[in-house]
Amino acid sequence: MSASRFGAKALEDRISMAQTKGLPQGLYETTDYRGERVLQAYWKVEGFPWYVMADQDMAEILNRIQKVGRDALFYGILTALIVFCLAFMVSTGIVNILKSKYRYEKELEFQVIQKEKLASLGLLTSGLAHELNTPLANALLYTQIAKEELEEPEIKLKTVQDRLSTVVGEIHQGSMIIRNLLDFSRHSRHDGDKTDVNETLEKLMKIAGSHCESNRIAVKMKLQKGMPKIIGDASTIQAILTNLVSNAVEAMPDGGNLSFKTRYVKVLKKVKIEIRDTGPGISKQVMAKIFTPFFTTKQQGSGTGLGLFISHEMVRKLGGDLRVVSSTHAEAVKTGTLFTVEFPVE
Ligand SMILES: Nc1ncnc2c1ncn2[C@@H]1O[C@H](COP(=O)(O)OP(=O)(O)OP(=O)(O)O)[C@@H](O)[C@H]1O
Ligand SMILES: [Mg+2]
Repeated sequence: MSASRFGAKALEDRISMAQTKGLPQGLYETTDYRGERVLQAYWKVEGFPWYVMADQDMAEILNRIQKVGRDALFYGILTALIVFCLAFMVSTGIVNILKSKYRYEKELEFQVIQKEKLASLGLLTSGLAHELNTPLANALLYTQIAKEELEEPEIKLKTVQDRLSTVVGEIHQGSMIIRNLLDFSRHSRHDGDKTDVNETLEKLMKIAGSHCESNRIAVKMKLQKGMPKIIGDASTIQAILTNLVSNAVEAMPDGGNLSFKTRYVKVLKKVKIEIRDTGPGISKQVMAKIFTPFFTTKQQGSGTGLGLFISHEMVRKLGGDLRVVSSTHAEAVKTGTLFTVEFPVE
């Protein structure tokens, strides 16, 4: 019989008994008169030497199976697409919520930093009043003296010049304090800025190199190549490093060694900078105060005592760390002082 859709007409009236293998019913695959592969099913008619058989082209059967396969593929892809779209919509929603939360927290963090900065500036104010009062009072005093000396019949120009030099020095000291504080309080918000530490150090030493040379300070640099850039704008990083370098240079008036070492600490995702000098070191009493605003061991008029305080605040603001060890209280440094700054790269 042909397939039912062609009217199920009889195509053959004989089948080989060998094909039925003498069984009452069965199924086998063969090639028909057209040379097409067919699947045949047969069963014996009870009480007669007859078999009834139906067959169908293999291609037709396979086609049906393939159709089922295609349908499964179609519905599979459709389901995957729906799941994907749903997942995309849900994850985009979550990402948007997280993004706005992140922005909010960033804003909050910025405000906290600003408040902290203002609070530390508040602490500074009392010190500032005192610090500015001294050079101002001195400048006033020496100007008055110079004025009186100028009114005398016999004017000693050299003495007046000396008085005025003192006035200039005192005003310079006052303006230095103000400039440092202005730098510090400026609202810098360079969110995405990144800086190459090695490049900044090399640039800095190009400027300070000749000064070191004339002070008989030997400079050694051991900079790790290919380090990632750190978070922070170049001017802030340079200001921090300049403060540390000038302190080291000032600690070695009779010469010595100044060495730099940079390294990327992968596990911490931080760049570590070491600045080491062979100066006299820092005593325990001084060590306790070095990060305090206006603390200085320099002579009146030569330092503001703001360098380390401001550097420490700036490093902290960038999520980094500024530490110090000195030969006077640590074995780690043979003689002198070692400042370590760590900056995050992410
Ligand atoms: N490398 C160092 N070796 C020895 N002492 C240091 C070193 N760095 C800092 N100090 C001590 O810490 C003090 C505070 O340093 P800081 O940079 O804050 O102010 P300053 O250097 O005195 O003034 P300014 O930075 O305005 O020139 C210094 O006066 C000095 O006594
Ligand atoms: Mg200093």
